Amino acid sequence: MEKQHFFLLLLCLAIVVIHSANAQVPAVFILGDSTADTGTNNFLNDSSTPKANFPPYGIDFPHSRPTGRFSNGLNSADFLTKLLGFKRSPVPYFVIEKNTKFIKRPSFRGANFASGGSGILDITGQQMLGLPFFGYGNNASDAGKNVVTLSEQIEQFSWVCSNLTAIKGAADAETFLSKSLFFFSVGSNDLFGYYYSKSGVSREQFLSSLGQTYENHLRNIIKLGARKIGIFGIPPVGCCPSQRFFNQSGGCLEELNSLAVDFQGTINSMMGNLSSEYKDLKYSIGNAYAMTINVINNPRLFGFRESKSACCGNGAFNGGGICDSSAKLCPKRQHYLFWDMFHPTKAASKLAASTLFYGDSRFAAPINVKQLAEA
Ligand SMILES: *[C@@H]1O[C@H](CO)[C@@H](O)[C@H](O)[C@H]1NC(C)=O
Ligand SMILES: *[C@@H]1O[C@H](CO)[C@@H](O)[C@H](O)[C@H]1NC(C)=O
Ligand SMILES: *[C@@H]1O[C@H](CO)[C@@H](O)[C@H](O)[C@H]1NC(C)=O
Ligand SMILES: *[C@@H]1O[C@H](CO)[C@@H](O)[C@H](O)[C@H]1NC(C)=O
Ligand SMILES: *[C@@H]1O[C@H](CO)[C@@H](O)[C@H](O)[C@H]1NC(C)=O
Repeated sequence: MEKQHFFLLLLCLAIVVIHSANAQVPAVFILGDSTADTGTNNFLNDSSTPKANFPPYGIDFPHSRPTGRFSNGLNSADFLTKLLGFKRSPVPYFVIEKNTKFIKRPSFRGANFASGGSGILDITGQQMLGLPFFGYGNNASDAGKNVVTLSEQIEQFSWVCSNLTAIKGAADAETFLSKSLFFFSVGSNDLFGYYYSKSGVSREQFLSSLGQTYENHLRNIIKLGARKIGIFGIPPVGCCPSQRFFNQSGGCLEELNSLAVDFQGTINSMMGNLSSEYKDLKYSIGNAYAMTINVINNPRLFGFRESKSACCGNGAFNGGGICDSSAKLCPKRQHYLFWDMFHPTKAASKLAASTLFYGDSRFAAPINVKQLAEA
């Protein structure tokens, strides 16, 4: 090889390396439930707050540290942030609230507001008390600050916004936010809440009001400056080990899955409508249902061995008891799709994040998160 060519090749490699080490968006703001919570609920004191800050949660996290993530290691929000080029996940909002200097730092890269147990509806965190396996305490009169609702998460984001504006000035803050990625992973708990409340509301009415409420949240965040939105749809929640547990034949609970499928349609329609109203809005919708059902049906194709039972838990499918130090724990965690009776393993979360990031239109539409970041 000629010297010059060799030099050019090196230069190209160097550019590729530098480029991939740099984040593609200035910041990431993460909202939602336990699938994206990186420690929010550690800051809540209510006895009924869903928590995951004890072993064996975090067993595959550096130093086997339980962090509050509902996973044996990192979750999808963490992996997605890594794929976007960040070294680590943005800190929980409560860390920033305690020290607003965080926002002043040039290294400010966003915040995570997601809170385990929350839903699209404000009542969802409260309503779950008393439902099978939801209340980690079952005392409805305790239902004070058990979760940070999505409404409250957006209110917290508005504080970050006003701090950003005070620091950067209105124009720079607006640019910063319009280029940042907003990632929503929420909705499963609303479906559980509806299904188990056996309310008289028809499924059509319920899905439509759930969609309407989601749309209001999105309008609020758009008003605050968001222009790049990633939405993770609802996975086949009827196939969670906690739900198979209730099916004598061991199958998934069909009605829960069907609600998830129908709500994906609602999300598609809602985002289509919002983007025709806000011309500069860009978005990517992850079809968590399609991704997950694919793995459930063909676990080996994706490097898994077990897609029905949880790694950590008790009872049938390890779906009948919570994951704690006295639960049964599987030996090979990387072989499992489910870590506990509701949540994916680190391996499954990594697969979900990369499918959202690189996936084709079956899994991420109209564009994937990589394209959204570059848009
Ligand atoms: C939780 O308790 C700590 C210590 O007592 C307190 O500082 C914090 O404000 C409480 N958090 C909430 C949300 O009440
Ligand atoms: C529920 O909580 C309230 C207030 O903390 C307490 O007075 C009551 O005894 C509790 N009820 C049960 C059934 O534990
Ligand atoms: C910054 O946010 C905090 C809450 O996190 C709030 O109390 C404070 O008023 C905000 N500052 C500005 C300038 O908006
Ligand atoms: C239970 O699983 C079977 C498949 O094994 C399915 O046909 C049935 O509809 C499921 N029951 C419910 C209540 O979803
Ligand atoms: C989107 O707009 C169409 C036409 O106005 C409407 O029929 C549909 O219900 C809207 N979708 C949602 C989810 O609101």
